[in-house]
Amino acid sequence: MKRTIFYLGMAFGALLLAVPSGCYYDNEEDLYGPVQTCDTVSVSYSGFILPLLQNHCYKCHKPSEPLFSGYVLEGYDATKAYATSGKISDRTNNVANPMPPLSEGGLLPDCDRQKILAWIRAGAPNN
Ligand code: HEC
Repeated sequence: MKRTIFYLGMAFGALLLAVPSGCYYDNEEDLYGPVQTCDTVSVSYSGFILPLLQNHCYKCHKPSEPLFSGYVLEGYDATKAYATSGKISDRTNNVANPMPPLSEGGLLPDCDRQKILAWIRAGAPNN
């Protein structure tokens, strides 16, 4: 009998110890997934801008493509001209009339757009 009471006591004690650790604490990572960071430091033309243009823009902005729009974004010089005129940032952040166009999925992910802006603000370097 004493033994049973002892074991019951132990079990109850263990339960009391276990409960607090079972409490639920909200934290950003559980709620929203891993915290997203966007690295906009030293965005380069060759490492980021060119591959992005090739994947999302050349289809309509490279003269040899069948869907060519008449506006050339192929090559550094053409891209730089559109970047420094403000047209690339205008259109890549234009919710109503975005580039890529709505038919192509519309605005690029936020981090991509931040990187484009960072590159333009750095003077659209050929790096
Ligand atoms: C499906 C084809 C298509 C894709 C993909 C596309 N564009 Fe365009 N873009 C066009 C067409 C057509 C025009 C001309 C009509 C207009 O301004 O909406 C244009 C116009 C532009 C202009 C304005 C040019 C000017 O002088 O007014 C910019 C800047 C531009 N696009 C940038 C981009 C960028 C940057 C991307 C990729 C992130 C992109 N476009 C992807 C079809 C496309």
